[in-house]
Amino acid sequence: MNIPLDRHSPTPIYLQIRNYLSRLIQSGKIPDRQKLPSIRAMSTSIQVNKLTVIEAYSLLEADGLIHARQGSGYFVNRTIKVSSGLTLRSTFAPSQEVIISQGSGSFFEQYTASIQARRQRDIIEFSSGFPCTTISDNLQQVAKRALAKAGDTLFREDFPEGQFILRQLIAQMLVQQGLEVSPEEIIITAGSQQALSLAMQYYLQKDDWVIVETPTYHGALGILENLQAKVIGIPMTAEGMNLELLEQYLKSHRPKLIYTISTLHNPTGITTSQAHRQALLTLAQQYECLIMEDNAYEGLNFEPVPPPIKAFDRHNLVTYISTFSKTLMPGVRVGYMVVPGEHYQPLVKQKLLNDLHVSTVSQAIVSEFLASGHYRRHLNRLRISNLQSRNVMLQALENYFPEAIAWTIPQGGLFLWTHLPNHLPIQAICSEALSHNVLVASGAAFFLRQGYPAMRLNFCHTPEDIEHGIKVLGRLIKKYLTESSITMGLSSQRVIVSSIRS
Ligand SMILES: Cc1ncc(COP(=O)(O)O)c(C=O)c1O
Repeated sequence: MNIPLDRHSPTPIYLQIRNYLSRLIQSGKIPDRQKLPSIRAMSTSIQVNKLTVIEAYSLLEADGLIHARQGSGYFVNRTIKVSSGLTLRSTFAPSQEVIISQGSGSFFEQYTASIQARRQRDIIEFSSGFPCTTISDNLQQVAKRALAKAGDTLFREDFPEGQFILRQLIAQMLVQQGLEVSPEEIIITAGSQQALSLAMQYYLQKDDWVIVETPTYHGALGILENLQAKVIGIPMTAEGMNLELLEQYLKSHRPKLIYTISTLHNPTGITTSQAHRQALLTLAQQYECLIMEDNAYEGLNFEPVPPPIKAFDRHNLVTYISTFSKTLMPGVRVGYMVVPGEHYQPLVKQKLLNDLHVSTVSQAIVSEFLASGHYRRHLNRLRISNLQSRNVMLQALENYFPEAIAWTIPQGGLFLWTHLPNHLPIQAICSEALSHNVLVASGAAFFLRQGYPAMRLNFCHTPEDIEHGIKVLGRLIKKYLTESSITMGLSSQRVIVSSIRS
């Protein structure tokens, strides 16, 4: 097999191999069940090290595109082909309005309402930002084994930056995502929420300007509000943050920090391209602005994603943050940050002052998952299950939602984003949905101030729950649309919104 490789490209060779094979598999040019060339044959034919081929194959395996059969080699997957959404193109195109504000405060209410709802059995919880709990396979078994292995060390206090073995395993995992870092650049945190909080406290002072995407993760908005930072919300386009507007505001306000979610953005589900990532970094360099890249949903992609912005960072501008909450167990509270050069030690001190260190029990559990290979297998299963659920939800939306509603088609993650006509009373719809045991949260929480009416819908549910919940929501939306359809506004909305439907 001949794979065209650009040995001068900033994209590492193993990623070029993975991307090329991935395209061939997804387009059907390498058919289902076909055996890939052996590691040795591939390394000889394209003249690369065997380890490079192993890394590329491992990544394709983690992408769910191939599987290894012991003693026989690597084969293209039939049932777990994750590309069925590939031809779907979201034409999400909200109005491009910049919002400037000093924060929004509904994170606490939304979070507690969501946890309460998850305790109630008969509620369909579409507003959650966490994975479904039915894919627990042998999570508990692995956790028990981790505890048995860790033994006495669990009773000892530890370093604030976290256990070396876990940092090493995370560094190895990140290499496969195209981000080459050493364990000495990683700090283990109590979920990514703590990483965000520590880093924002460290980088920002009261009244500093910060840029965020709009909409964005409300937990980050809550921290910025607490810090009394001044926040500029740059609107999302289908490609990610609007870079023209970003440049305009970098020039006019000279912000200290850009907060961005480049992969599987919360709440829209959008993943930016490599070109977008590089352009954003170039702008940050030009205007001497730091970047906080929060890729909490990394690993839940249905198709390959470009390396994080951090991978292109030659000037120590980017702090990269992620977590195991969205892929393993939210309750285990293990996240991490990759901190550039001079900022590492001060942030380790911040961590120590905050809570000494992350629980050694939690760290041991995550280490066991990573070291045993369970994590990769678990991710494969999760992605397949999430893709099926996403497709069930897309079908239900087609069946039950009226024409006037638009939605994104995320290539991974846990939720999609629906965009409702401006005149619809979103709060009333959410309250009425709850009386039918369907919990949805208004998208308002993700905006600094009033944005457009929207809902983030978590698709990690059983097909029955998705079908029932979306049917209830569709009925309510239709009812409210009918009530307001006498107004002229509706017909103009229809035109706008149907043009942004996929
Ligand atoms: C973008 C983003 N960042 C960070 C977090 C915090 O997650 P955790 O602290 O559980 O890692 C979340 C949770 O929803 C999130 O969506």
